Amino acid sequence: MKKNVTVLTHPLIQRDLTILRNKNTSFELFRSVLHRISRCMAYEVLKDLSMQPVSIETPLAKANGVKLKEDVILIPILRAGLGLVNGFIELVPESRVGHIGMFRDERTLQPVEYYFKVPPVLKTARVLVLDPMLATGGSAVMAVSLLKKHGARTIVFVSLIAAPEGIRALQDSCPSVSIYTCAIDKKLNSIGYIVPGLGDAGDRIFGTK
Ligand code: PRP
Ligand code: URA
Repeated sequence: MKKNVTVLTHPLIQRDLTILRNKNTSFELFRSVLHRISRCMAYEVLKDLSMQPVSIETPLAKANGVKLKEDVILIPILRAGLGLVNGFIELVPESRVGHIGMFRDERTLQPVEYYFKVPPVLKTARVLVLDPMLATGGSAVMAVSLLKKHGARTIVFVSLIAAPEGIRALQDSCPSVSIYTCAIDKKLNSIGYIVPGLGDAGDRIFGTK
């Protein structure tokens, strides 16, 4: 289970996750806390980005510094993944952003793809797939497979909450993908929702319930 899985245990992340889980959190608050937690997640998820040395001049003298060596590409899975994008962009403003549109068929729980538009430079970049919920793993597996088909090599899956079933599915079909999550919950219920989870992430972000 633990292979390639990192749980983000920072107290600020865990405090915000608790607010997001709470059923009494309004969608206005949910959205702003999701934005705040996504910035902290970006900080943690990107802490091993490779750097390149550069020389600059301060007002006083020459100094050595660094710039980022790797390109970062963010791929939110629509809809709920959109809620994580801006926090990452704030920390890495030079990120490119692609979109994968997908929803789960409520009966079969299988993902249905309806949109795919990604930057053409997937091969050499660090590709971060953003989706708050990793439930059965069907959406994640389909998204990662599509990205691999389009040339992505370094793929990281970033979620707020993961179910053991989803982690296993993603590890089995794409063992090279690193998974970051703020919590690994107990289980899925009979209709594929993560328990205790936070409910339907898209509905909670966009107020559609
Ligand atoms: C949710 C969530 C994931 C998917 C996870 O999206 O944001 O994309 O379910 O479930 P899985 O791991 O079982 O595939 P949903 O299909 O509800 O679409 P939405 O974001 O448009 O509401
Ligand atoms: N999608 C969600 O939004 N929530 C879940 O618990 C499972 C899938």
